[in-house]
Amino acid sequence: MSTLSATALAGRTVIVTGAARGIGAGIAQAILEAGGNVVLLDLDGAAAESTANRLDPEGGRALGLAADVTDAASLEAATAATIDRFGGLAGWVNNAGIVRMGPAADITPENWELELRVNAGGVMRGAQAAFRAFGGKGGAIVNIASNAGKVGFPNMAAYNASKAAVINLTRSLASEWAAHKINVNAVCPGSVATPMLREVAAELERDGVGDAATLFAGMVPGQLKRHVEPLEVGRVVAFLLTDAATIIRGQAINVDAGETPY
Ligand code: NAI
Repeated sequence: MSTLSATALAGRTVIVTGAARGIGAGIAQAILEAGGNVVLLDLDGAAAESTANRLDPEGGRALGLAADVTDAASLEAATAATIDRFGGLAGWVNNAGIVRMGPAADITPENWELELRVNAGGVMRGAQAAFRAFGGKGGAIVNIASNAGKVGFPNMAAYNASKAAVINLTRSLASEWAAHKINVNAVCPGSVATPMLREVAAELERDGVGDAATLFAGMVPGQLKRHVEPLEVGRVVAFLLTDAATIIRGQAINVDAGETPY
């Protein structure tokens, strides 16, 4: 896997939500590889801290903090701690998300609202916190949507809808905030080998669809016949945070091994 130059993000600090594990941890790793500082936010603050320590064993460039993307005040507090520690903020990656599987006819109002509150509302809250923290100096925001936001996968209606909202929010903020020197793009991963995907396989197993290991191994549609790795998503995100990506704006870029035709 090729990498960006080790100075592509030098001197820049980026916040990543939901970064204790999975894709968020891959994004944090890619930001560090590109020379940036990274603040890993997660519901699980201890796990965020331990991932930060694992990715940055020498210390000084990664920080793990507890924050909940459904709670604007906790994002503001994490942003203040970030600026206190690193002196400013140049990028924000809205990655935290959840999935609840089930037939559309049976989605409860609670689960519908939860998916929208975390996946779409979390991106809006994160973007607003970033807007304030950039303080008029500009910056880059990358939202982790999903190819589910373009394709209507069965048994994931609320998730699909929440990710479609993220894609449109990305376009809306890109056009509205261009005047504030803020670039906003989205990445749409396909099947990425993470705890979330394993949990989806386990949920399907509980529903009698098959055994989790076989289901997980089979979740590899696309041209490469393998899962996407979190670091592969991370490296695309890291590129979108650099000045070289300034001309790419409001896009929803598939990182899916060729799974999605559009
Ligand atoms: P994951 O479940 O493995 O990791 C998600 C992390 O987000 C966890 O550490 C969790 O504690 C944290 N989190 C959950 N709710 C939060 C909240 N309210 N506030 C702060 N942190 C919270 O998930 P994964 O697979 O790494 O997914 C990351 C993002 O990528 C999600 O937005 C997901 O929808 C998206 N995605 C994942 C794909 C996959 O195949 N794994 C495919 C396409 C998109």
